[in-house]
Amino acid sequence: MSKKPAPRANISALLQEKRVFKPAAEFSARAHVKTFAQYRKLWLESVRKPDAFWRKQAKAELVWQKPFAKVLQWKEPFAKWFVGGRLNASANCLDKWLETAHANKAAIIWEGEPATDGRAGEERVLTFRQLHREVCRFANVLKRHGIKRGDRIIIYLPMVPEAVVAMLACARIGAVHSVVFGGFSAQSVADRVQDSGARMIITSDGGYRRGAIVALKKNVDEALAITDANGDRPAKSCEKVIVVRRTGHEIHLAEGRDFWWHRELDYVDANCPAVPLDSEAPLFILYTSGSTGKPKGILHTTAGYLLGAKMTHKYVFDVRDEDVFWCTADVGWVTGHSYIVYGPLANGTTCVMYEGAPNWPEPDRFWRIIEKYRVSILYTAPTAIRAFMKWGDDWVKKHDLSSLRLLGSVGEPINPEAWMWYHNVVGGGRCPIVDTWWQTETGAIMITPLPGATPTKPGTATLPFFGILPEVVDDSGKPVPKNTGGKLVVRKPWPWMLRGIWGDPARYKETYWSEVKHSYFTGDGCRQDEDGYFWIVGRIDDVLNVAGHRIGTAEVESALVSHPSVAEAAVVGRPDELKGQALVCFVTLKTGQAATQDLKNELRNHVGKEIGPVAKPDDVRFADALPKTRSGKIMRRLLKQIASGMEIKGDTTTLEDLSVLAKLSNPDE
Ligand code: PRX
Repeated sequence: MSKKPAPRANISALLQEKRVFKPAAEFSARAHVKTFAQYRKLWLESVRKPDAFWRKQAKAELVWQKPFAKVLQWKEPFAKWFVGGRLNASANCLDKWLETAHANKAAIIWEGEPATDGRAGEERVLTFRQLHREVCRFANVLKRHGIKRGDRIIIYLPMVPEAVVAMLACARIGAVHSVVFGGFSAQSVADRVQDSGARMIITSDGGYRRGAIVALKKNVDEALAITDANGDRPAKSCEKVIVVRRTGHEIHLAEGRDFWWHRELDYVDANCPAVPLDSEAPLFILYTSGSTGKPKGILHTTAGYLLGAKMTHKYVFDVRDEDVFWCTADVGWVTGHSYIVYGPLANGTTCVMYEGAPNWPEPDRFWRIIEKYRVSILYTAPTAIRAFMKWGDDWVKKHDLSSLRLLGSVGEPINPEAWMWYHNVVGGGRCPIVDTWWQTETGAIMITPLPGATPTKPGTATLPFFGILPEVVDDSGKPVPKNTGGKLVVRKPWPWMLRGIWGDPARYKETYWSEVKHSYFTGDGCRQDEDGYFWIVGRIDDVLNVAGHRIGTAEVESALVSHPSVAEAAVVGRPDELKGQALVCFVTLKTGQAATQDLKNELRNHVGKEIGPVAKPDDVRFADALPKTRSGKIMRRLLKQIASGMEIKGDTTTLEDLSVLAKLSNPDE
C-alpha cells in the first residue's frame, strides 16, 4: 500500500453523444414541472435566494412538531439546517397518512426470492396503516431492550419488510440506524460495530440469494467473536441481537443475548408515539469506501435528509398517487434508504420490494415482477441493465411492460448503448429516462433531468436539482471551459448533504472540504458540454466502481496483505463490459511462498471473507516486484495500463527499476 497521490483533474472528454430526447408533450402535460423554462426559473430562484426557497419547501413538504427558526447555520464545513425545528422521520412517513385515503393503500408490496412454481414468489403487502403498526410495535421492542435516543443500531438483514420496519422503528424513538449490506462479511460487520459503538444488531437467521441461503446470523456470531477477541468492543455495545426468522434453518441463539423478533413482539403493544427530534438529530450512519483506510461512517440527520429524499423522489420520478414505484437497490445502500424507504413513504407512494437476484429462477424475474404488479416507475443500475442486455431481448419481450411510464438509472455512468437499450427494449421507446447522479454523502439525487422538463442525452445526468450548485474545476479550483475535463465540486451546502464522518471530524474536513477551497469535493471527474450538461467520467481518486458498488482500492489492498503469504499488494481497476470496472490485484509474495493457482483462489476468497463477496477480485496477478517511484510510491497509472492490456504510455522516468515493468507486462517470459 502506498499513500495516495493527489487526485489530478486531467481527465479527457472522449465521449461525444449527439442524440437528444425531448420530453413527450403528453408526459409534460401531467408532470409536476412541465417545461424547461419552469425548471430553470425554479432552479435560479433556489440558488439565488436559498433561504426563502428552502423555508417554503421545508414548511410545505414536512410535518413539524415544532417549527424551525432559522433555515441554515453554516460554519464551513459544518451545516445545520432548519435550526430549532422538531420533527420525526417515521411520523412523516407513516402517521401522516393515517387519517387520509392513503391509510389502507399499499406502502410495500414485497416479493420473496424463492419461486415455488418456477415463476412467482411469496408475497406480502403492508399498507401504510399496517406498516405503522409494525413500526410502533418494534419500536416498543427496542425500548423494552433499553434502546434510547442517540443509540446506534446495526441492521444486517436481507431484503425483507422487517428491514424497513427496523429502520423506521429506530427513527421513531431517535435511535440511529446503520444498515450493513447483507453481502458484507463478518469482518465488515465487526468493523462497523466497533466504529459505531452500536448497542444492538438486528439480523435474520439467513436470507435467500440465487436459491442459496446466506447465513447472516452466523456472520453476526463471528463478528461479535472478532470484536470480543480484539477486546475492542466498547462497553455496552452489542449486548443484544434480535433475529428475524426468514429461512427457518437451524441457528445458534446465545442465551440472554439473542432474541427472536417474532417472540419479542408478544410482549409489546402497538402504541408508540413518535418522539419529536431536533432537525439535526442523527438519522443514520452508512459506511462507504473512501480512497484510504477503513470505510467512513457517513452521517445524515433528520430534517434536511428527509426533505431531500422526499423532494427528489417527487420531482425526479414525477410521482403521482397511482404510481407503483420500484427501486431495485438493496436497503443496505443509500439508494435503498432514500428511494425504498424515506422518499417514497414520505410521498405516500406504493413501493415494490424484491428480495432476490434478477436472474432467479430465470433472467426475466424483473420483467415478471413489473408485469405482475403493474410497476409504473423502475429505478435500477447500469450494471443490471448491461446484464439484461447480455441475457437477450427475448426475456424482456415475453412480458407486458406497458405499465411502465418512467425509467431511472443510478450508481455509475450509463453508457449510451445501455441507455438506448433501456429506452427501446424496456421502455418501449415511450418512457423518459432519468439518469441520476449522487452519492452516499449527498444523501439524495443532485444532478438529474426532470422528466417532464429536461431534454435528455444518453450518458449524461444533465443538470442540477433545485438548490444544487455543481461546477467542474481544475486543480486550482477555477472553473474549466466547456467540454474540458475537471473535478466535480458542489459550491454551496444543501439540506441533504452529509453532516460528517462518524467520530472523525478531521477526516470529514480533509476528505470533502480541503481539495477545493470553499467547495464540497465529490471525488468524481466530469465535464460540462455546450448546453451545460454534466457528464460524469468516473472517480479520480482511488475508489473503484464495480457493478455500482464503491470499493476502495486501499481496503482490498489491506485485506490482501493481511494474508500470511502476501508481502505487498496494489489494486487497480480495468474497464469491464458488464460491471463497469473489474478489480485487478498485483501481489508480491513473501519469500518461500509459491505462486500457485490455488493461492490465487485462496486470495480471492480471503478478500471475499474480509470485506464481502462484492469485493472479490476478478484477477489476481503475482509479480516479483511492483513498479515504484524512487520515493517508493506504487505507480498505479502504469498498473492500470498493464491491467487493461494497454501499451504503457507516459512518463516512466521516475520509475525505480524498469525491468519490473517488462516482467509485469509479459509475466510468462
Ligand atoms: O462515481 C459516482 C457514481 O457513484 C458514486 C457514488 O457511489 P455511492 O456513494 O455508492 O452511491 C451510489 C448511489 C447514489 C459517485 O461518486 N455515480 C452514481 N450515480 C452516477 C454515478 N456516476 C455517473 N452517473 C450517475 N448517474
